[in-house]
Amino acid sequence: MSQNQAWMQRDLDVLWHPCTQMKDHEQLPLVPIRRAEGVWLEDFDGKRYLDAVSSWWVNVFGHANPRINARVREQLDSLEHVMLAGFSHAPVIELSERLVQLTPPGLERVFYADNGSAGIEVSLKMSFHYWRNCGRPEKKRFVTLSNSYHGETMAAMAVGDVALFTETYKPLLMDTFKVPSPDCYYRAEGVSWAEHSRQMFSYMEQCLAAHHGEISAVIVEPLIQGAGGMRMYDPVYLTLLREACDRYSVHLILDEIAVGFGRTGTLFACEQAGITPDFLVLSKALTGGYLPMAAVLTTDRVYQAFYDDYTSLRAFLHSHTYTGNPLACAAALATLDIFETDDVIESNRQLAVHMGRACAHLAEHPHVAEVRQTGMALAIEMVQDKQGKVAYPWQERRGLSVYRHALDRGALLRPLGSVVYLLPPYVITPEEISFLAEVATEGIDLATRQTLSVSVPASAPLHFRDPG
Ligand SMILES: Cc1ncc(COP(=O)(O)O)c(C=O)c1O
Repeated sequence: MSQNQAWMQRDLDVLWHPCTQMKDHEQLPLVPIRRAEGVWLEDFDGKRYLDAVSSWWVNVFGHANPRINARVREQLDSLEHVMLAGFSHAPVIELSERLVQLTPPGLERVFYADNGSAGIEVSLKMSFHYWRNCGRPEKKRFVTLSNSYHGETMAAMAVGDVALFTETYKPLLMDTFKVPSPDCYYRAEGVSWAEHSRQMFSYMEQCLAAHHGEISAVIVEPLIQGAGGMRMYDPVYLTLLREACDRYSVHLILDEIAVGFGRTGTLFACEQAGITPDFLVLSKALTGGYLPMAAVLTTDRVYQAFYDDYTSLRAFLHSHTYTGNPLACAAALATLDIFETDDVIESNRQLAVHMGRACAHLAEHPHVAEVRQTGMALAIEMVQDKQGKVAYPWQERRGLSVYRHALDRGALLRPLGSVVYLLPPYVITPEEISFLAEVATEGIDLATRQTLSVSVPASAPLHFRDPG
């Protein structure tokens, strides 16, 4: 028995993995990782895998980054944790100062949570509570885009719309207004991203016009709907949305958990629309992919609506035990240092051009409907019929074939259903990007060449897919 197999067996005896039908592992080997460095993961048998998805979109400067390691180690020797109610510490103060300085003007307060979904809950609760504190308790509903994803806790699921994750729990979820997404995959032939996004805004305008009196906030993933299949849209939508939210007195929550910290070509995606949200939710790359943490930034106006004598009962009493953990703050500070000193945004621009070129040929593939890209995120949509953009039945799990092939070839490419995507750490080299493009091309060839016969019951939902 190899070392991998031995660890896999011990794992499968006791663990229940996230986002996984555990029965799959009767055929699909689990990959136990012993160590990692830079963009490479290494299993217990010594095989290496290029981490093309940044370990679920968190790792921006590579695994075991010497600068982040050193900062976390140093912090470990002075303070590993202290509760943040009634107490504070240098790393959380420094991090908050820097986030306020780096994010768009007007965001002046930072509240911490310990993962992305929890950060979303904070923003929704704060928005509702703000209106309540302002004497507008009827503003209690949220507007969300179709195909959006904001996490897995109850309220985060309620404002999400990826059926695979939310369908089962619908009876438990609060009701929201759902507006068609500006997703440019569906634009008509010859129509630009900007034009399509602008046209799709009319649905949002109608919803706000009709219901603004009861709406607390609109929540969106700016520019890329990640878990929804890396679907993309133009910044003009965000500019229009900011203007409409102001006009209708509705908060704007931007979920930059996946896209923040350079992924879209600017440090924050909302910079491309020249706007400041009322709530900006950050997580994932915030700590360079080292430790779980989320930050919710908001305005002084929101903060002041809670600031009062205790007996007025206006305080925001939300808390997570690990709020502002010093080790996570240290990892985040080291990550921000790298952004500051290494001209990351510019070097990403060049890497993104290379990524686009390396994958461009796939647009001609008979089973690829689209190759789309925003900054350091590139997605390739496999389809059954190219002309009509007819999706493969989800039960065929074509993406899984790509995943398996990539593992064989030494790459971690984990498609979202039939969408193969590259979202690598920013320390990847052009040669490594070319390798990923080659592996993706081979995987797509293999996956789309197969004739599969899976039984598809008539009652099966059409819009499901494999998890990513
Ligand atoms: C846009 C977006 N929001 C929220 C989340 C949830 O974050 P977490 O998994 O840390 O709860 C994710 C996770 O993928 C995400 O992509």
